[in-house]
Amino acid sequence: LAKIEVEMGAIPEGKNLIVKWRGKPVFIRHRTSDEIDEANQVDIKSLRDPEADSDRAQRPEWLVMLGVCTHLGCVPIGEAGDYGGWFCPCHGSHYDISGRIRRGPAPLNLEVPEYSFNDDEEKIVI
Ligand code: FES
Repeated sequence: LAKIEVEMGAIPEGKNLIVKWRGKPVFIRHRTSDEIDEANQVDIKSLRDPEADSDRAQRPEWLVMLGVCTHLGCVPIGEAGDYGGWFCPCHGSHYDISGRIRRGPAPLNLEVPEYSFNDDEEKIVI
């Protein structure tokens, strides 16, 4: 199946971009240093789906995830919810700035697809 390339320079720090990949939305966030700190300060043991931020983001500045709520598949809203990340309005799931589920019915963190950075470090390849 086809890969897509996303120009990293087109996403300012502190902004989200949504692209379509295999019929699904993919969220890409260029995180700020404050957001990275916030993601790392969370006690992993307290999480419903325990994952370290470093296991979700190959480079801390760039978060890449499927924009599909792990409850029943709605598309969460960015820069929303009580944990500084995404909010799914269908039944009220709150995800943090690492896309980890923090409150609401969703069982799992937003899924991280396979991706890489191209050789010139200018593009994310999904
Ligand atoms: Fe997102 Fe139910 S589909 S909370």
